[in-house]
Amino acid sequence: MSLSIVILAAGQGTRMKSSNPKVLHLISGKPMLFHSIDIAKEVSEDITIILYHKADLIREEIDANYENIKYHIQDVEQFSGTGGALKGLTLNNDRVLILNGDMPLITKESLELLIDFDSDINMSVIKLEDSSGYGRVIIKNGKVLEIIEEKDCTESQKLTKTVNAGIYSVKKELLNRYIPNLNNNNAQKEYYLTDIIKMAVDENKSVNPIYVEEKEFKGVNSKLDLSNAETIMQNRIKESLMKNGVSMRLADTIYIDIRASFSGECFLENGVSILGNSQIINSHIKINSVIDNGYIENSDIGPMARIRPDSIIKNTHIGNFVEVKKSTLNGVKAGHLSYIGDSSIDEGTNIGAGVITCNYDGKEKHKTVIGKNVFVGSDSQLVAPLIIADDVLIGAGSTITKNIASGNLAISRTPVKIVKGFFYKFFKKGK
Ligand code: UD1
Ligand code: CA
Repeated sequence: MSLSIVILAAGQGTRMKSSNPKVLHLISGKPMLFHSIDIAKEVSEDITIILYHKADLIREEIDANYENIKYHIQDVEQFSGTGGALKGLTLNNDRVLILNGDMPLITKESLELLIDFDSDINMSVIKLEDSSGYGRVIIKNGKVLEIIEEKDCTESQKLTKTVNAGIYSVKKELLNRYIPNLNNNNAQKEYYLTDIIKMAVDENKSVNPIYVEEKEFKGVNSKLDLSNAETIMQNRIKESLMKNGVSMRLADTIYIDIRASFSGECFLENGVSILGNSQIINSHIKINSVIDNGYIENSDIGPMARIRPDSIIKNTHIGNFVEVKKSTLNGVKAGHLSYIGDSSIDEGTNIGAGVITCNYDGKEKHKTVIGKNVFVGSDSQLVAPLIIADDVLIGAGSTITKNIASGNLAISRTPVKIVKGFFYKFFKKGK
């Protein structure tokens, strides 16, 4: 049987205290809402996202990354709240799964627990020591009676530790009847989706509480929640990578984007950040290095190196304080303190300490191409656009402004001048 999925994402997310819409805040490099969409997509292709605040911005982000997502713009002026979100929405399938857009930690396995086509309503509940911030679920003799939002709770209701996790699987027929009958007679003057529970109970429908785990169903409402969710997601990502053979020294100090991939035998030392769609293959990334959208194969990087987007690095040694941007290096050694930008460098080439590719002339970026077996002496500046052929020697301290053909030495250096005894004269010390 098929399922319609609705993701609620129209809220402003005031508690985030941010100009960026709540659902676009990143967790492990991916917007919170995309985590929900990815999980939803594993279950059904019929996905509608409810938007209002910054709808255009959110839509643009989604459309750039997904196909066939439908949107429903909530009439927040008239019908605010999670119940208002569903007003006027046409649903395709007989069964509807409703997700809050601020719950990025759910896994497919947990979602499947909620999907069942027989009951009238399945709702997710969590038992929490500190239930503050959540709607409380009133259960008597194992039967759900209603959900009461915190702001509408009496002091004794507030003590309830069973809360609404915010995910529901409901028969379409019930939604179609209940949503038009919701009212906003409550503390927040909002149309609460949670009121459908009592409506169903009053009609003797079956409402099943599905107990779920806090670490998957925690809503993100504040920057503190965001940070806690990030920790949980990072632990998940790293655990799964370590199970697949990636070594991590002090894993707690390492950050890995959810889109990054690893293969072969990889070793990450403490403080490493692997960002974006980086691909790491049989490589060793040393202390405090950053790899951002890079392809790294059979190489060692760092400590304290920074590989910026669009770099392809194979069979290469990159040492400390080396920055590489948009460059392709194969079989290269760049051991110390270099900037390599918009370059391609071939096998057997050694980049000395402090070498800089001067890729930017103040207006435009230019390319540096360096061939095989080139020795670039320390502290040289390579002024792009520049082509250095195979088998070239560049003297230390040179500023290279023209192409060098194969087999040559290039050196540009001010000759050393010796002024005898000047030191003693200058400082007026006898000798
Ligand atoms: C909601 C539940 C609460 C539950 C909690 C779980 C209601 C009334 N309350 O509270 O019982 O314990 O989630 O995390 O449903 N949204 C809209 N339109 C709106 C308002 C919100 O689409 O007018 C979206 C938000 O973008 C968000 C989701 O609905 O993704 C939940 O909204 P939020 O304001 O975070 O609800 P809570 O107060 O957390
Ligand atoms: Ca919430």
